[in-house]
Amino acid sequence: MSAQDTPPAVELHVHVEGTLEPELIGELADRGGVALPSADLDDLRARYAFTDLGHFLDLYYANMAVLRTAEDFAAMTRAYLERAAEGGVRHVELFVDPQAHLARGVPLEAVLEGVAGALAAAPVGMTTGLIPCFLRDRPVAEALEVLDALVRSDVAFLGVGLDSAEVGHPPSDFAEVYARARAEGLRLVAHAGEEGPAAYVTEALDVLGVERIDHGIRSLDDPALVRRLAEAAVPLTVCPLSNVRLRAVDTLADHPLARMLDAGLAVSVHSDDPAYFGGYVDDNHRAVAEALELSPDQVRTLAENAVEAAFVDDARRAELRAEVAAWAAGRDGARPSS
Ligand code: ADE
Ligand code: ZN
Repeated sequence: MSAQDTPPAVELHVHVEGTLEPELIGELADRGGVALPSADLDDLRARYAFTDLGHFLDLYYANMAVLRTAEDFAAMTRAYLERAAEGGVRHVELFVDPQAHLARGVPLEAVLEGVAGALAAAPVGMTTGLIPCFLRDRPVAEALEVLDALVRSDVAFLGVGLDSAEVGHPPSDFAEVYARARAEGLRLVAHAGEEGPAAYVTEALDVLGVERIDHGIRSLDDPALVRRLAEAAVPLTVCPLSNVRLRAVDTLADHPLARMLDAGLAVSVHSDDPAYFGGYVDDNHRAVAEALELSPDQVRTLAENAVEAAFVDDARRAELRAEVAAWAAGRDGARPSS
């Protein structure tokens, strides 16, 4: 399938550190004189069979050892943007984990300058934004300090998110952080209901006041929550290949995305950590359409939901809507009539 067989994509759930491909880890390790976090690249790749989110996060954080300078962060971001453009990404809101780098002694400026500098030089026609995330398994006081530093920096960012190990770290722990972020006029999102319970999704909405939920697949455990999410059209950024690789879901054919669509939820498809989970956003669309036998209209709805969930102005949203409509018209025109 060519990239045109998948819709023009609005990528709202991708962690820039999760785009670090093994080859680039090797190059950055050589360039920076940093020891590879594995014997060699084959050994590294052999470790990409995860038992759960925590197992993945251990490797994800260990591999970040190769990221030391602004140029390292820029190289990672440029490589992502190039691959994203090939896969039809038209707008991306990129997550970054500042605390994972600050904890290793890398200054915030190096992280922000590297990533934001590369975003500013994104491929022609692609729009971008940056969303720093707080690590929910680190102290709230640290998140408050990082928020202050982010706000003081001269790098523009769209909003803030919440990620890392979910179970045992409820959204409500971060109420003060999100209240301050809201007071700064920032957009608010949070991971919830990936491995954690549906109650974390409710908390993210009620206590943090988030506008989008990242993952949210466990919402299906609570029928009242499903009704609420559908009625309020709360966007849920779902990452099918991630859910299978992290064993939140047994197989792609069992993925709840189809049930979520049937329930009228505002779901869209994204990649999470594409270098680790076997695919970018186009791969996720292709895989899920095939495994769940989604109809052409359902695929179009997924693409439209992503457009509606993006933090863009009216003019850009209109352009993105038009691109999805043109793609669907081209596809439908090319389909043999039966
Ligand atoms: N950080 C990177 N990927 C993540 C995921 N899938 N869940 C939570 N935190 C993450
Ligand atoms: Zn994620």
